[in-house]
Amino acid sequence: MKILVALLLLSALSNSIEVFGDDSEEQCRYKPKLDPRPHSVSIVEFGAVGDGKTLNTGAFQNAIFYLNSFADKGGAQLYVPPGKWLTGSFNLTSHLTLFLEADAIILGSQDPSHWGVTDPLPSYGRGMDITGSRYRSLINGYSLQDVVITGNNGTIDGQGSFWWDSFRSHTLNHSRPHLVEIVKSFDVVVSNLTFLNAPAYNIHPVYCSHVLVQNISAYAPSSSPYTIGVVPDSSDHMCIENCNISMGYDAITLKSGWDEHGITYNRPTTYVHIKQVNLEASTGSAVAFGSEMSGGISYVLVENLHIKNSFTGIDFRTAVGRGGYIENIQVSDVEMENVYTAFIANGQYKSHPDEEYDPSALPALDQISIEDVTGENITMAGSFTGIENSPFEFTLSNITLSMNSATSPISAWVCSNVVGSSKTISPEPCPELESSSINSLSSFIATLSSKGLASHS
Ligand SMILES: *[C@@H]1O[C@H](CO)[C@@H](O)[C@H](O)[C@H]1NC(C)=O
Ligand SMILES: *[C@@H]1O[C@H](CO)[C@@H](O)[C@H](O)[C@H]1NC(C)=O
Ligand SMILES: *[C@@H]1O[C@H](CO)[C@@H](O)[C@H](O)[C@H]1NC(C)=O
Ligand SMILES: *[C@@H]1O[C@H](CO)[C@@H](O)[C@H](O)[C@H]1NC(C)=O
Ligand SMILES: *[C@@H]1O[C@H](CO)[C@@H](O)[C@H](O)[C@H]1NC(C)=O
Ligand SMILES: *[C@@H]1O[C@H](CO)[C@@H](O)[C@H](O)[C@H]1NC(C)=O
Ligand SMILES: *[C@@H]1O[C@H](CO)[C@@H](O)[C@H](O)[C@H]1NC(C)=O
Ligand SMILES: *[C@@H]1O[C@H](CO)[C@@H](O)[C@H](O)[C@H]1NC(C)=O
Repeated sequence: MKILVALLLLSALSNSIEVFGDDSEEQCRYKPKLDPRPHSVSIVEFGAVGDGKTLNTGAFQNAIFYLNSFADKGGAQLYVPPGKWLTGSFNLTSHLTLFLEADAIILGSQDPSHWGVTDPLPSYGRGMDITGSRYRSLINGYSLQDVVITGNNGTIDGQGSFWWDSFRSHTLNHSRPHLVEIVKSFDVVVSNLTFLNAPAYNIHPVYCSHVLVQNISAYAPSSSPYTIGVVPDSSDHMCIENCNISMGYDAITLKSGWDEHGITYNRPTTYVHIKQVNLEASTGSAVAFGSEMSGGISYVLVENLHIKNSFTGIDFRTAVGRGGYIENIQVSDVEMENVYTAFIANGQYKSHPDEEYDPSALPALDQISIEDVTGENITMAGSFTGIENSPFEFTLSNITLSMNSATSPISAWVCSNVVGSSKTISPEPCPELESSSINSLSSFIATLSSKGLASHS
């Protein structure tokens, strides 16, 4: 019986990894053609003044309205020369390249009336900071195709301190804006730029397909509340590579909607490849999944990560009421340094959008594999606290963490409601994650049979 289950399990795992290995690797292998646009105008031609004081929202809006007429003629480029270009929110258009020259800095206005207000995303049902609507992001795209935001390492600076102060003092009238938000679009590239001081998120693709985020750096102070670098949200076929991200909260967070709103919208984040990134996440996690994951998150390949000075390395977050799933996730080739907890999986994220969530909507977290990890100065190796009746499932292998002996608690690993297996782990993991454990095998039978993959016969 035990052998049968183990074989069944092995074949289930190897099948899935083969399938997703092929596909998630494709995301960073596919490179969009970045042909130069046949038409280019400078923002200066639309009256913009790069003195850091003049408000240029009208210039950006007018330039992009004009360039929209080239959408069916091969597209166009909006060129931003060196200077400090203060602006409020503006919208992009299809077949457009926004190009920021070296020393071109787009500055976000610190007056909230320059940002405009928009409805909550349907998969969230409300703003993230407070209920109700949200400020529009600085640079927005709605239902577009073929959009490129790039440059010669120019800068987009959100001057977020006003927003962080308003968040901390509970004086926000709507949830905070982001720097770049692209909604329901495909073929999107964000590359070769520096992002500074985002009010909340830096890059937020929502309901998008084919998004490449490449060679960007993003910084916000370690004290900035809930600032996040890149947030793939109900989006598929994404590549994030060659980026340096240092944030107050998380560096990269994958999401897909919140409780009943996300379940109804039902759009997963899937086929995401994250590679070769240097991440710092002061109070959150270098790479986080959830906690809003109600549309599902699957087929994510994360490799070649350098994580330092972070609260958590890799983090899986969910709660009863979310529904959805996080599955077929492979994390490999990770170096961590000065990280408090290397791995967390927490099924007790209690925040809900409203009282309408379904307490019987259990999330599933399975087929998560983490391998080839080294860590220096780690305080806690792992904390896996799953959900009763929906245990988390992990496979760990080849993980060597050097623990901070001055601060390490007695047990490096904490586990409950988790099953799985492990190989070559130091410090030694909890018994729930040892492949020989009778306990984990029998919970496994329960998990598999509850999914109709095995029977007790
Ligand atoms: C930007 O796009 C949104 C959504 O289509 C629209 O509601 C808004 O009016 C646009 N803003 C401007 C300045 O064009
Ligand atoms: C990264 O961006 C910098 C500055 O924009 C550029 O010089 C460099 O060639 C880019 N590297 C890649 C791999 O695109
Ligand atoms: C871009 O500029 C920022 C500082 O402005 C720097 O930290 C970063 O390394 C530069 N990126 C590249 C690829 O040159
Ligand atoms: C909220 O609205 C009040 C009244 O309109 C305004 O004085 C205040 O500046 C607004 N706060 C923010 C953060 O937008
Ligand atoms: C980034 O910049 C480099 C150097 O100019 C260029 O070769 C590359 O195509 C750019 N990458 C993207 C994705 O824009
Ligand atoms: C990221 O940091 C590394 C090491 O400091 C640097 O070589 C690389 O150019 C940086 N990349 C970006 C996109 O800023
Ligand atoms: C070890 O990591 C912790 C963060 O978890 C940090 O506060 C501390 O300074 C680090 N120690 C050294 C020697 O770098
Ligand atoms: C274990 O992981 C390290 C990197 O963390 C890697 O260099 C080594 O080759 C791996 N060993 C095996 C047996 O895969």
